[in-house]
Amino acid sequence: MFVKRVTTGLMTIAAATFAVGGAFAQDAIKVGLIMPMTGQQTAVGKQVVAGARLYMQQVGATVAGKKIELIVRDDAGVPDNTKRIAQELVVNDKVAFLAGMGLTPLAFAVAPVATEAKIPLIVMVAATSVVTERSPYIVRVSFTLPQHSVAIADWAVRNGSKKALTLVSDYAPGVDAETFFKARFMAGGGQIIDSLRVPLMNPDYAPVLQRARDSNPDTLFVFMPAGLAGVFVRQFVERGLDKTAIRLIGPPDLTDDDELNGMGDSMIGVVSSGNYSASHPSPMNQAYVAAFKAANNGLRPNFISVGGYDGMHLVYEAMRKTNGSTNGDALVDAMKGMSWESPRGPISIDPQTRDIVQNIYIRRVEKVNGELYNMEFATIEAMKDPGKAGPK
Ligand code: DHB
Repeated sequence: MFVKRVTTGLMTIAAATFAVGGAFAQDAIKVGLIMPMTGQQTAVGKQVVAGARLYMQQVGATVAGKKIELIVRDDAGVPDNTKRIAQELVVNDKVAFLAGMGLTPLAFAVAPVATEAKIPLIVMVAATSVVTERSPYIVRVSFTLPQHSVAIADWAVRNGSKKALTLVSDYAPGVDAETFFKARFMAGGGQIIDSLRVPLMNPDYAPVLQRARDSNPDTLFVFMPAGLAGVFVRQFVERGLDKTAIRLIGPPDLTDDDELNGMGDSMIGVVSSGNYSASHPSPMNQAYVAAFKAANNGLRPNFISVGGYDGMHLVYEAMRKTNGSTNGDALVDAMKGMSWESPRGPISIDPQTRDIVQNIYIRRVEKVNGELYNMEFATIEAMKDPGKAGPK
């Protein structure tokens, strides 16, 4: 009898707790952020999540009278995981937003989930041009490989590059980088002497570096996704290619702020294109870098981190515009054409393509106060994704 009464009492408490939890759960607007927090792309997940959390820390967890709850889930960079987690977040957690997508194949896997659920999918990393066309619910806040590749091709031909070799990771954004760099470089009068690709997972650069040396280009254009350039640069230097006349160029992944100091002084002078540099001289960015470092044990924010930060801005401002409604179509409509200042500079969402429009900067690695930085020295303003029009 006694035992039974205690059990009933506990059950009552449990039921009450559940009811309170349920009430909270209904009020909170949930954002399901899926990123690789383990595996080869871990550094990317860390930067995005840190950017997203910093935004919430600075702005607070409430907008339009609603509490925003960030649910972070690890997909280890495996598309089947990303898709399953997205489905769980929709069905079980009833998220109002899906976000993240640390690699293009992960965004491809989740696009149909967003379409079916009619939920905005905020792409914070995946950078192949076609990603935004995979669902009318996708809005991108990162960058595209055509943006970066066209910008650096133009700089290279204007600055004496004549014979280039391209080296890319062998998956969709690598193909975009190769295609758009080549087309633009050749349109400017340059010649492409070879195009090499390496596997995305566990790449070995030794054979391609040997081929690069043998074919003797004046310029080597390199793309591999964030987090992989450190290994590439080590092998490039070990083989003495930094001592040759070959000019190393690429998108911002090549001189990633997260890895740049570890790459060493042989990177000084390397020119790249990029949507963000930790040295961007705006007051907003200086505050961003200081707050980011303070919240993350001194970690320097990179071009990936602003995808997390600006992606949360998009969530908040869309919620504000819909007055707290979570209707997916209304939220995506609210995001179209939105413009604001980011730590990277002014940005907006193209109302036709739902893709990011942003400045692309040309930067040179320099040592400032004992640390390596990408110092911006030229700007292509408000660049749309050149990929939407096809390579030229
Ligand atoms: C992709 C991922 C990255 O981390 C990056 O820097 C560029 C592109 C991608 O898979 O699209």
